[in-house]
Amino acid sequence: MKICKTILSLRRTLERLDKPRVFVPTMGALHEGHVALVRRARALAGKDGCVVVSIFVNPTQFGPKEDFSKYPRTFRTDVAQCCAAGADVIFAPSPEEIYRPDASVFVDEMHLALPLCGKSRPGHFRGVCTVVAKLFNIVAPDTAVFGEKDWQQLAIIRRMVRDLDFPVKIVGHPIVREKNGLAKSSRNAYLSDSQRIVAAGIHDALREATRREHSPVRIVALARALIETLPWARIDYIEACDAETLAPLANRRSVGRLLVAVHFAKVRLIDNIALPKLRVSKE
Ligand code: PAJ
Repeated sequence: MKICKTILSLRRTLERLDKPRVFVPTMGALHEGHVALVRRARALAGKDGCVVVSIFVNPTQFGPKEDFSKYPRTFRTDVAQCCAAGADVIFAPSPEEIYRPDASVFVDEMHLALPLCGKSRPGHFRGVCTVVAKLFNIVAPDTAVFGEKDWQQLAIIRRMVRDLDFPVKIVGHPIVREKNGLAKSSRNAYLSDSQRIVAAGIHDALREATRREHSPVRIVALARALIETLPWARIDYIEACDAETLAPLANRRSVGRLLVAVHFAKVRLIDNIALPKLRVSKE
């Protein structure tokens, strides 16, 4: 496996590797969720293709009060994990390699980026879209794999690829969870053992609400009530949305997604669950 720190060395390395080229963008601090994406990429690339993982803590997607400087950086173990999961190349540039000091062009998705996490993290998705667009231009992948854990991010990237004609196929990978159901996240490291047990109640609430209720309004109300009983939890948002457009879901005649963000102890956790289409009689 090769580690490239500059765009030039990455380009030279990629020239010598066969296609298809499958790409997994990450910010490092890798856990089993990321590793599953790399394995999926390996399977998609086959034995002849190549798997590229980027490790780049992207400054432009962190707000002024967010944890950019404190974001965990575990490069050595990240490299070992990528290697074991079948990556061929790691691209780990410095911020200076990616951003000119006077950069003045950005990619802004103007619709899906507004609700949900976009409300509490203004500018976040502009940073995500800009860096992903740049990475797509640098890596030139045939396929890129993103996790469903960040459902809104995945929907926005799909929209960006559609609207800007990137020749990249986007593959979504299911959420990888702890045994107790808590979605794996680099930020779970900031929780105590007992907080991690209670935080699993967020996923339980989503499952319970989607099992017991049918209409979007009632599902949201029940999930909200269940999460509100959890110590340490303060809901940022909980909404039932169209899975693709993220518009509020009025009924179950289209595929939906129940999305939640919770301030939990010192961290902000996100999770989501499918709301499959129902036959009208069940609404
Ligand atoms: P990061 O948070 O490192 O996540 C990298 C990828 O791993 C994303 O596609 C994310 O959805 C996926 N992922 C994280 N936890 C997961 C889990 N428990 N199950 C499945 N997939 C999971 O998302 C980013 O970085 C950045 O915004 C990035 C796209 C790299 C742009 O900077």
